Amino acid sequence: MSKLYITGQKRLSGAVTVQGAKNSALPILAACVLARGESVLYRCPQLSDTEASLRILRWLGCRTERADGTVLVHNDGLTRCDIPDALMRQTRGSIVFLGAVLARQGKVRLSFPGGCAIGQRPIDLHLKALRRLGAVIRERHGWLDCRAPHGLKGADITLPFPSVGATENVLLSACTAEGVTTLTNAAREPEIRDLADYLNRCGARISGAGESVIMIEGVRSLSGCAHALIPDRIVAATLIACAAVTGSTVTLKGVVHSHLAAVLPVFEDAGVAFSAREDELRVAAPQRLRSMKIIRTMPYPGFPTDAQAPLLAAAATADGTTVIMENIFENRYRHAAELARMGADIKTEGKFALIEGVPRLYGAAVEASDLRGAAALAVAGLCAEGVTELGGVCYLERGYERFEEVLSSLGADVKKV
Ligand code: EPZ
Repeated sequence: MSKLYITGQKRLSGAVTVQGAKNSALPILAACVLARGESVLYRCPQLSDTEASLRILRWLGCRTERADGTVLVHNDGLTRCDIPDALMRQTRGSIVFLGAVLARQGKVRLSFPGGCAIGQRPIDLHLKALRRLGAVIRERHGWLDCRAPHGLKGADITLPFPSVGATENVLLSACTAEGVTTLTNAAREPEIRDLADYLNRCGARISGAGESVIMIEGVRSLSGCAHALIPDRIVAATLIACAAVTGSTVTLKGVVHSHLAAVLPVFEDAGVAFSAREDELRVAAPQRLRSMKIIRTMPYPGFPTDAQAPLLAAAATADGTTVIMENIFENRYRHAAELARMGADIKTEGKFALIEGVPRLYGAAVEASDLRGAAALAVAGLCAEGVTELGGVCYLERGYERFEEVLSSLGADVKKV
């Protein structure tokens, strides 16, 4: 198991291009199941999560190729409609193969998805929505047997919660259903809009993606296309936190500012100055951050839950008290105990975290247990005095492409062993 050794208190400088969005890549790779022929995806990050999706595509009968950030998927016809447990368990993102394979093959058998230990992560909303479209789903011993004996038919669906994954499964299964589907209280994340853009380029008729009501008019079939993924707004937020805790000035390239509309003001309140030019964002941090006061994570366009952990790490050395309210997942403070080993003063109670800023953190041996918690520990290591030994790098590699190289290119002292 590799580890990162971070020698902290190095000022960062320079510019870095932000990778493509992991949470766009995963549903769009699943959508390649629906698109006959060849799809070319640009800016597709090379992560353990995206490689897991490519393995599922190959298992189903697609051919895949990768050249740096460009991925080709040749869908000459699926040979399977089941996904083995070993492949399903590798990521949470695998659940969106449910809608894609069901729509393409008329049936699918797969086990419950894997994912980080950030919460129970049920899929009841996914199943309820697919049943509204005519799917017959049997759940037995952790396996799902899904069929559409009379094909999938458009329907009016309302989600009780704007679930990202459930929204994606509806888009994937409704775009070749018979008739029109209206999805109300849909997730509005930019990755939903990116998925719809890919599907529409393949011939789908989806309108309203990115808003709360999405209309999908079923079409007969989809053909592959070329599509460039949006940049990863959570990686951008993480890099902002890295600059913020080291009093650095860095430039992020290839960002979409509007995707960070809820993130930038939080760091501005803490004393970070931003200047935007085209698709670049200059981040200038003060010597020491002020506290961020109160942060509530919300569905997009609110403050993203995935940026909560890196933000919490930044709050640990800010001047003052910060309160975080994690409203999306029920167990997303696992990194707090590890940060305390570095000298952070954090109390967590249910969805709340109370962070009393301390003047300094100290390098320590810490262990990540989920993707964004690993990012938080890397952020803390960058500002800590001494060396931080970060274990659980495999979690970081789920969502951050060559993160140690990115940080080193900005002047950080980070080694992977
Ligand atoms: C997606 O997860 C992202 N993952 C998550 O990013 C992100 O945190 C989350 O959306 C929220 O933005 C991918 O896109 C692969 P949800 P997803 O369905 O689809 C509950 C990362 O770090 N819920 O919007 O699983 C659920 O338990 C990852 O990149 C149900 O109760 O999120 C959670 O509390 C972590 N029943 C809340 O809704 C369901 O059927 C949000 O879940 C589905 C969800």
